Amino acid sequence: MLQLEFFPRTELKSLLDFQSLENSQLSLSDRKRLAHFPEFYQSPKSNDVIRQQHSQMVDKILGFRMKYVEEMLVAEAQGFEPEGSHETWGPALHQGVQTWVGLDLQTLQTPYSECLRILQLLKIKPYQHIIDLGAAYGRMGIVIGGLYIKNSFTGYEYVKARVNEGKRLYKEFGFARCELVEQDLFAASFELPVADVYFIYDYGQVEHIDHTLKQIEKIAHKRPVKVVVRGKFTKEIIKDRHEWLDLKYEGKFEELFSIYTAYIV
Ligand SMILES: C[S@@+](CC[C@H](N)C(=O)[O-])C[C@H]1O[C@@H](n2cnc3c(N)ncnc32)[C@H](O)[C@@H]1O
Repeated sequence: MLQLEFFPRTELKSLLDFQSLENSQLSLSDRKRLAHFPEFYQSPKSNDVIRQQHSQMVDKILGFRMKYVEEMLVAEAQGFEPEGSHETWGPALHQGVQTWVGLDLQTLQTPYSECLRILQLLKIKPYQHIIDLGAAYGRMGIVIGGLYIKNSFTGYEYVKARVNEGKRLYKEFGFARCELVEQDLFAASFELPVADVYFIYDYGQVEHIDHTLKQIEKIAHKRPVKVVVRGKFTKEIIKDRHEWLDLKYEGKFEELFSIYTAYIV
């Protein structure tokens, strides 16, 4: 059982347990303790609705101000497009880049429990480096910072306000090996760094994802890589254009991700 200053006997078995944590004023040391506890990232049930509710509570317990940041982005976007929606606000604000401004936060991001499951399936070894391509607020980095303390993480994200918010939490929690970087992945000047694992959750248009996959292919000529893909869109692109990737694990039912490997010799 988890020992917190605020709740000396804390269980993380039901959403109600998370709810009582959410509604209390936890000290930073309690929040830090929670962040290093695997059960904290485990959803009480594996269905989509509960996983999203659990993630929403975890965001709040950690102290993320995502809702506020997104509301600011929507307000700014409405200045350009009063009648717009999450389909149009992102491109209107960010030079045509689909940043999904106004989209529900739980749809925009991978649930914590799925980040945890992915990392467990990958059997991450110490000192391996993980990159999230289009990281939003960097949830994957939170799980790595909390549980995989010998690993490093870089999340690239176009939207500065999301990067700043994620960075604020990484700093508060002392996740020194995790970083979020403001970056347009499609910029001509951007050279994708080497990593052991690349994570893509439908970050942009077809040509953007295709461009990124070509960059990973180049790296796979030099070293083995694993690519985790969430969302149907990127999986279709791989099926049509990137046969060099070997499908190793295909999530079924409520698991929305697949794992590919490649080492092109
Ligand atoms: C569907 S979200 C996934 C977030 C995160 N990877 C997760 O799974 O929780 C995709 C993210 O990619 C970002 N994005 C879209 N186009 C981008 C680009 N060209 N460069 C960097 N980030 C981009 C969006 O702003 C958005 O935050």
